[in-house]
Amino acid sequence: MNENWFRENLKRVGATQEDLAKAIGRDRAVVSRVIRGRQALNLEWAEPFARVLQVPVSAVLRQAGLALEPAPTRRIIVGISGATGVEYGVRLLNLLKQLEIESHLVMSRAAEIAMTQETDYKPREIATQADKYYHINDVAAAIASGSFKTMGMIIAPCSIRSMSEIASGATSNLLTRAADVVLKERRRLVLMVRESPLHGGHLRNMARLSDLGAIIAPPMPAFYPRPKSLEEMVDHGLGRVLDLFDLETAGLQRWGEDIGLR
Ligand SMILES: Cc1cc2nc3c(=O)[nH]c(=O)nc-3n(C[C@H](O)[C@H](O)[C@H](O)COP(=O)(O)O)c2cc1C
Repeated sequence: MNENWFRENLKRVGATQEDLAKAIGRDRAVVSRVIRGRQALNLEWAEPFARVLQVPVSAVLRQAGLALEPAPTRRIIVGISGATGVEYGVRLLNLLKQLEIESHLVMSRAAEIAMTQETDYKPREIATQADKYYHINDVAAAIASGSFKTMGMIIAPCSIRSMSEIASGATSNLLTRAADVVLKERRRLVLMVRESPLHGGHLRNMARLSDLGAIIAPPMPAFYPRPKSLEEMVDHGLGRVLDLFDLETAGLQRWGEDIGLR
């Protein structure tokens, strides 16, 4: 209980402990005990106290030591760009749902083309799997601003074109703008860059992004968990990416724990 804060605010608004007592229908001795920290503040008194002191209820709760910590932001931006392996982005939406993480999806035009070419998914159906979907040209969207808090962004898969644009900082659509915002806010940016082979320009852009704080995590399958399907292989790769956000994916096979040497 911050006694000084209550006394200063009573003085500021020209009110007395008697006024607080009247507001909660108790006598002044109760208010005096509460302010001196001898008696706990009843939660129902926070609102009348706030009214008399002309402050937000949250301020009364905080000064009485009753404020709850704000819930951590549990949302991740998912970018799907036009590299092969759009399945990674689709499965990622699924895993985020299981983890109860709010997903904010943006897909490039080339991603929609690749999706139609290499899967039976319809881009419009995939859009409905995210908690929030944004059009690639909607540069006024929430995720285009750093004031919209997120845990970060995963681009799965990430094309060389999008990766190069993010490395340059001269972004031309919402996917690359959102990534640039994540970088400037020093949040986590993971790029599942997919291309092979790579020339020096690609590699230099990756090194540049890594220097800026991004994590380059190409979709390189691991064989040690002995995946029995493409889905298991994709999920293992995504589980390792979600590890980077301290998110525990159910069923992720870990070397030295579930498999391998002990
Ligand atoms: C089926 C398909 C597969 C592609 N695979 C890749 C790839 O693996 N890596 C890549 O960098 N570009 C790939 N491309 C080319 C990109 O889609 C193209 O460079 C596009 O301009 C990327 O735009 P975006 O970054 O806005 O998605 C592929 C295109 C298609 C249609």
